Amino acid sequence: MVRHFFFTLLTMQYTHVLITGASSGIGEAIARSLAAKGCHLWLVARRKERLVSLQQELQKEFPHIQVFTFALDVRSAEAVRGLFNDLASGELRPNVIVNNAGLAAGLAAVDAADLEDWHRMIDTNVKGALYVLKYGIPLLKTPQGGHIVHMSSVVSREVYAGGSVYSATKHALDAIHRTLRLELLPWPIKLTSINPGLVETEFSLVRFAGDVDRAQQVYEDIEPLKAEDIADVVAYCLSLPKHVNLPEVHITASAQATATKVRKKDGSIRG
Ligand SMILES: NC(=O)c1ccc[n+]([C@@H]2O[C@H](COP(=O)([O-])OP(=O)(O)OC[C@H]3O[C@@H](n4cnc5c(N)ncnc54)[C@H](OP(=O)(O)O)[C@@H]3O)[C@@H](O)[C@H]2O)c1
Repeated sequence: MVRHFFFTLLTMQYTHVLITGASSGIGEAIARSLAAKGCHLWLVARRKERLVSLQQELQKEFPHIQVFTFALDVRSAEAVRGLFNDLASGELRPNVIVNNAGLAAGLAAVDAADLEDWHRMIDTNVKGALYVLKYGIPLLKTPQGGHIVHMSSVVSREVYAGGSVYSATKHALDAIHRTLRLELLPWPIKLTSINPGLVETEFSLVRFAGDVDRAQQVYEDIEPLKAEDIADVVAYCLSLPKHVNLPEVHITASAQATATKVRKKDGSIRG
């Protein structure tokens, strides 16, 4: 895909970027975009082979940057603590954290939902994101500061039937984000929350436990955002001058009004 020329010209304020959930979708697109802008990358996710193949591809294309991979589950506080302990003693350290790993599991009403789906969403989207913040923030508390990007969602501010717990996790992430803007004010650390609408990634495949047909129906007959659209916006936020911050960005497809209400290609409204 040819990106808008504007985004290819951006110069990053901070160039050492750790991305969770970098093995697919939005996180992977952010990694590709920032590698092209000369950033060193720390790529985190569970699927090691995906991370290594992305690392090899980026190192080949951009030999002047360094790309590190860490195969871990953000639901493990110990694993996240170990990662940041190792980074703290290294010469090259991240000064940007993109807290992106997350998922929706299932689309059931509260009284019909699978408890395991709730645990996965809460443990990853809320507790996992918190572990990354708890152990990652000390790296950013330097005179040079840094930038934290939260990958939230339009459902951080709205709800839909079947989305109670996924929405609750993104509402929680929004509360954490706004709290951190207060707690981190004494340091030159910027905080940006990105709130995307429908983005075509592996998100729906994960939500529907690998059911390809059901996942495709989500994006059928509409024009959703692409992961690269979100990556462009993240790059833009990271490129702003030191004294400028975008605390919240809401981004949807042009044909999307709410989490579920979209205009189909034939002009009719779904949802
Ligand atoms: N797609 C959308 O419509 C949409 C809209 C709004 C917000 N978002 C948010 O955007 C973020 C990225 O989602 P996406 O759309 O790019 O979906 P995706 O393609 O499924 O990517 C999710 C990423 O999160 C990682 N991940 C999931 N659980 C993890 C865990 N326990 N530990 C470490 N990494 C984990 C996955 O890697 P592994 O499986 O390899 O661990 C993968 O790299 C999520 O927070 C999601 O809530 C998505």
